[in-house]
Amino acid sequence: MGDKGRIGILTSGGDCAGLNAAIRAVVHRAIHGYGWEVMGIRNSTCGLLSSPPDTIPLTLESVIGVLPLGGTMLGTINRGSPFAFPDLDGSLHDRSAEVVAAYHQLGLSALVAIGGDGSLAILRKLAQIEPGMNLVAIPKTIDNDLCGTELAIGFSTAIDVATEALDRLRSTAESHRRVMILEVMGRDAGHIALSAGIAGGAKIILIPEIPYDIEKVCAKIRDRQQRGLAYTLAVVAEGVQNLRGETVMQQMSRGGQRLGGIGSLIAEQISQLADVETRVTVLGHIQRGGTPSATDRLIATAFGVRAVDLIAEEQFDCMVGWCNHKVEVLPIAKAIAEYGCLDSTDTLIQTARGMSICLGD
Ligand code: F6P
Repeated sequence: MGDKGRIGILTSGGDCAGLNAAIRAVVHRAIHGYGWEVMGIRNSTCGLLSSPPDTIPLTLESVIGVLPLGGTMLGTINRGSPFAFPDLDGSLHDRSAEVVAAYHQLGLSALVAIGGDGSLAILRKLAQIEPGMNLVAIPKTIDNDLCGTELAIGFSTAIDVATEALDRLRSTAESHRRVMILEVMGRDAGHIALSAGIAGGAKIILIPEIPYDIEKVCAKIRDRQQRGLAYTLAVVAEGVQNLRGETVMQQMSRGGQRLGGIGSLIAEQISQLADVETRVTVLGHIQRGGTPSATDRLIATAFGVRAVDLIAEEQFDCMVGWCNHKVEVLPIAKAIAEYGCLDSTDTLIQTARGMSICLGD
């Protein structure tokens, strides 16, 4: 691509801290490094389905001051795949070809997509529809469940927020001799719960990968009581399952179900079985919002720069990843082929066990 190139950028899936830092880096590298134009696409693929496409030219001026801002200046969506796009009457339509047509109508030479596993799978499928789109991906997800990268944008901030919450819960737990449960996000992977739990000194950490036995949880609390420790901090991921493989879902008034409520259920079980006062804090979207950590700003900036360089090298259908303090490049297909959840060999699982933290088993 020569110095008349034009690239697009969008953010897709649930937002998180550090997205603006990545957008800013892409804009800087594209303009300073290559003299290209950058077109921001609003609200992920919805922006490409609008007529005319919903875009915003991204200049060096337009990204001034965005580095420390949470959210995404481009907006995002985490539902409404163009392959089954809901109409006003609720019926679903395949509008995938329109997305690719809009990309070409905008005269884009490549598209930088910042997303998690679900979004990247959809975008990759779109990119393969003839005449195709040149796609380069940047990983983001507070769940940190993408393969091929040790860190996705947003994870570091989420664990900082959850760790701070545990620090704050500790003093009140100790004062009242209570069990304090912190429910964190994590549908299928327990990275946030495990990392924040260890960093925040939790003695019970329940993750979706390990079904919990409430008797083991209560045994841990009793053991601490017998040692004169009347309070306990516990972290519970929202997608935790009991021994029968059941999760706790909330029924939505507009239809559908959403994970949530496991913390309250476990609190009730603990207060009955271990006879101890228990309280629950659900951290929710506080983990996704607000100021990005320094680590998230750093990896987002490194990812943004490398993503643009990949376009210059005409390396497409690939994702940047953070491995051993370096940006590595791998096929998107590889990053989404497997799900990046925790397994028993994970260093932090072993660390937790080494620290006698109860993992519910
Ligand atoms: O995938 C990121 C995530 O934050 C999950 O941890 C959580 O279950 C989900 O998104 C929440 O999505 P929503 O913003 O639609 O409530």
